[in-house]
Amino acid sequence: MAEQRKILILNGPNLNLLGRREPEVYGTEGFEPYLERLKARYPDVTLEYYQSNHEGGLIDKIHEVGFDYDGIVLNAGAYTHTSIALHDAIRAVPCRVVEVHISNVMQREDFRHVSMIAPACAGSIVGFGLDSYRLAIEALLA
Ligand code: DQA
Repeated sequence: MAEQRKILILNGPNLNLLGRREPEVYGTEGFEPYLERLKARYPDVTLEYYQSNHEGGLIDKIHEVGFDYDGIVLNAGAYTHTSIALHDAIRAVPCRVVEVHISNVMQREDFRHVSMIAPACAGSIVGFGLDSYRLAIEALLA
């Protein structure tokens, strides 16, 4: 039997508050129930989930799985717009990383129009609500 493909969903700062945080922007569903639906949809994929509010925690996790996993779905939250260290961490590992955003950052404040991580990522999926994560998984599996 072929080995299961392994994908990490990595969420950055404030994304632990999904469902409660600015629901008009990020929706009313928490991430955990959504994750259960994703796992049910992809029974042949090992889907791991990790969230950190700390830049170093996100970098450590990329180092931990980046030489072993088939892909990382990364919503770096506000670190997207600031973190050269995350850019370097993504470049440091062979695993493909897809940048995701729940909201359409291009329709929001100017400071959200810049992504420090996009040039290091395989691609970016932006603005489809929580469905952005599923679309990123589809991209990694394609
Ligand atoms: C976000 C967009 C970022 O600008 C913001 O800082 C977030 C969430 C999104 O998923 O839409 O925390 O990454």
